[in-house]
This record gives sequence, structure tokens and C-alpha cells, in this order.
Amino acid sequence: MGVVRLSPSGKEVESSSGETVLETLERAGYALPNNCRAGACGECKVKVTSGEFDQGMVLDMALSQEEREEGYGLMCMCKPLTNELEIEWGTEDAQPKLFPPTENIRCVVVDRIERTPRITELRIRPLGNQMRYWPGQYVMINDVDRKVTPRCYSIANAPTNDGEIILQITRVPDGETSNWVHDNLFPGSMLNMSGPYGTFIGDPSTDGPVLCLVAGTGLAPILALADAALRRGFKQQVHLVFSAQKEEDIYDRGLMSFWNAKHRRFKFIPTLTREEKEGYHHGRIPNILSDLYPDLSKHSIYIAGSPEFVDSCAIAAKELGATDEMIHSEGFFDQAQPIAPGSDRLV
Ligand code: FES
Repeated sequence: MGVVRLSPSGKEVESSSGETVLETLERAGYALPNNCRAGACGECKVKVTSGEFDQGMVLDMALSQEEREEGYGLMCMCKPLTNELEIEWGTEDAQPKLFPPTENIRCVVVDRIERTPRITELRIRPLGNQMRYWPGQYVMINDVDRKVTPRCYSIANAPTNDGEIILQITRVPDGETSNWVHDNLFPGSMLNMSGPYGTFIGDPSTDGPVLCLVAGTGLAPILALADAALRRGFKQQVHLVFSAQKEEDIYDRGLMSFWNAKHRRFKFIPTLTREEKEGYHHGRIPNILSDLYPDLSKHSIYIAGSPEFVDSCAIAAKELGATDEMIHSEGFFDQAQPIAPGSDRLV
């Protein structure tokens, strides 16, 4: 048993042996940003100001040699080696705000819908207590025998009374977990779920227009955030621009039409990148953003998709006046899976 101390607040959280710093903070409800949980994205990078730690195996692009020398570490893989570890993170009055995650919650698939030829949607329900989470967070799933590598998937719905969780899963060539999902999980199947994780959650202080820029299954966390905002009667404009290669890749159209019809301030704007079709915008979102929204200085912007998509959209949004504080993003990494110590498995 040791302690992780937050600086400058001085708040202390007890850590258990073998736990990463991220796990310790999550257990206490602190929202340390994280994305891949595998030392690949750099999202959980903070400076360690005192104490020793084992960094584990991480990618150089996520933590450079210079950063290591300056004392930075990736908290998703960092394990304290001393009884006390102090990290520079949080404000003077840092407060826990997340629900502590639970591991290996046994769930049943109650429904499955093929959204596109590559994306399947699972509706799952925990057998025990419902999982409490914030819209925008993600879970990890694997098989009940724990033979399949756990992987992260965003929750695509706001919390419901029956505790149902919706996951939208793209079949990735050579992706062990996504292929297991597509080939083995059907209504009635059991699986393990751990979570909730992640800090891509809505900013309750937002009171201006909201613009969501989404590609592929980046739609999932945005659906959860928009669902929650619309249900609580958010008074400002919410626009969702969805980038698809072809018309057949646009999914959840029924829900989008429902929201378009029901909420005056909501608008779904699909754009195609590899097909010309009447009634659509065409081109990559970063290239057409200035035509759609010449001034983004008052918008809160939520971006979800591949890291490249997120980066290029953020750059385009900033050129149109968006500020860093108003941009919230979630990049989906192929490496988003835990790495066993000593393993060289990063695919
Ligand atoms: S590197 Fe830690 S969450 Fe991605």
C-alpha cells in the first residue's frame, strides 16, 4: 500500500501494489485524461515530481526520450516503486468526479443489429448492478474465459433505467477482439465488461452552440453525449457532421432523422469522401469546414474518430477561431488494448 499525491492540491490517494497510477486515480474518481490505456497515445502524460516508478513498455511517439529525462511518465502504464509518488496534475482544489470503474462485470447480449457491412451494434445488460457512467466514456470487453484480449469501445448511449449499454464495433482485419465480437456474440451470448473509463465527457458549463465532427464509429461517444444533452433540454444548437466514405457507411440514420424532426436545434450533416451523390456534402471535413462554419469562435467542438482525423479537424477548427479550451476530442487508437508486461504486442 502506498500513496499517489497530486500537486498542487496535495490530495492523496492510496494505491495498491501492482496498480498503475491511472487505476489508482480512477478508483478514487479522478478524471485523469486517458485514451488507449496501453502507452500508445500520450493522453495520460504527466510530470512525476517525486518518487520512483516503473514506466513499463510504451511507444516512443507517446513519450519521447527528452520527456522521460524531464520526469514525465504515462500514467496508464506507470507503477510506483516507492511508497510515495507525487505527480503534477489537477487544480488547487482537484475533486474526484468520475464513477470508479468495476472489472469483469458479467453481461448478456440482449440484441445485435448490423449497422453496416463492417459495423455491428451490441446491446448488452449487466447481470448484477448497473454500471454508472458519464456519456462519452468507454468500456473494455472480452470473453468470460478471458482468452480474448480486452479492448476499449465507447458507449453509444446515455445511461438508461434498465442499465443497457450500446456498443458499435467495427470489424478490423486481423483485429482479434473485433473479429471475436462479430463471429461469436449474438443475442444470449455472455461477455465480460470492465469500466467505465475515459474523460471525454460533456462540459456542463457549455452554453453556446455545439459542433460535433465525427468519422466512423467515432459516432458512438458523440451519440451518448448528444443523447444526454438533448434529453436534458440543452437550449443551444447541436450540429453533428458525420464523415463517411460512401452512402452505405452512414449508419444510425433513423435516430438522426428522429432527432432532426424532434429537436429544432439538432442537425445531422453527412458528408461523403469517396462517392458523389445528390443531397450530400462532399469532401473531408477539415477541407469543407470553413464553407459550413466560417466562424467557430463561439462553438464548443467535440471531435471523435481516428487520431489523424481528430488532429486535422482540430487544426481546421482552430483556423476558424476555435480555442483549445473549447475543443474536446477522442482519438481511437488501433493499439487500444492492454499490453502484458514483457509483451511486445502492439498492433
Ligand atoms: S498512453 Fe496512457 S492512455 Fe494512452
